[in-house]
Amino acid sequence: MCNIETEQKKKVLSCIQPSGMLTLGNYLGALKNWVNMQDEFDCTFAVADLHAITVRQEPAALRSQIYSTYALLLALGIDPEKNTVFIQSHVPFHTQLSWLLSCNTQFGEMSRMTQFKDKSAKHPENVNVGLFSYPVLMAADILLYKPDFVPVGADQKQHLEIARDIAVRFNNKYGDVFTIPEPYIPKTGARVMSLQDPSRKMSKSDDNVNSWVAILDSKDDIIRKFKRAVTDSEACVRFCEEQAGISNLITIYSAVTGKTVAEVEREFEGRGYGEFKLAVGEAVADTLAPIKASYEEIIKDKKALEQLYKEGADKACRQAYKTYNKAMKKVGFVL
Ligand code: TRP
Repeated sequence: MCNIETEQKKKVLSCIQPSGMLTLGNYLGALKNWVNMQDEFDCTFAVADLHAITVRQEPAALRSQIYSTYALLLALGIDPEKNTVFIQSHVPFHTQLSWLLSCNTQFGEMSRMTQFKDKSAKHPENVNVGLFSYPVLMAADILLYKPDFVPVGADQKQHLEIARDIAVRFNNKYGDVFTIPEPYIPKTGARVMSLQDPSRKMSKSDDNVNSWVAILDSKDDIIRKFKRAVTDSEACVRFCEEQAGISNLITIYSAVTGKTVAEVEREFEGRGYGEFKLAVGEAVADTLAPIKASYEEIIKDKKALEQLYKEGADKACRQAYKTYNKAMKKVGFVL
């Protein structure tokens, strides 16, 4: 009975890059949903380490970020028994399928990717071919596991669309191999903006460290950053377009406490920004504290961590291998 139930669950896949510290924005916008999806879906989650080297990475820093991103997924409560949780580079089929897909993707369609245009403008000294073909590798990440849904943020929607296009075209040319994934828009999920410039998304690559909160920041740092958050001129805690700074803080407070926007406004009626900012800082610190504590336990035991990511890679390989072989066969390779 149990088995039938798991077989019928829809499949979800998502990946996260191990580039630097994960932020409160990553947590509230994406990772919290990963945690929530575990019961309803059959989930595959990966640390997309191969994607990270499309921009220069210092080897020692990359290595430690891969470890810490994997550990953080576990600390958040993602269960490696229930899901498939692995490190992308441990499953060679990603790069292998990526070649097959590259030869079925047009230069013209890749040239239209807005993230490529943005990133190559930002790093003109390193416009490498990997940065250009990154969406094909992402398509391989997805298509190998035949997910029904892929939760992605707005910045990745175009890449998911290209993955769908590649899959449809491949299936039409060679026969049915890939499942066409749908984007998954979670019921809850907050878009967290910079604490210093609420017109921009909170991002760890922002030079101003006060603009973002890392999931692993200390309580003092969190509270200090919220105290310094930019607010507006109306001096009241009300969610509205004109008050982008305070609205962002309301969104965050509402996401961590589970209260609705209206409840938050009522709670802080007649109270000043200072008091509200402190309350947001404390609520965020209280939410992140157990995650940080659990992370510190997990990262201490490298052996146990290694065992888990190896098991994750084995599980992932078993699924990916089937899809990869089928694709190879259809294209005409001798197996
Ligand atoms: N490109 C994604 C990002 O930068 C990460 C990613 C890699 C991904 N492969 C994926 C996301 C597959 C979803 C599915 O955020």
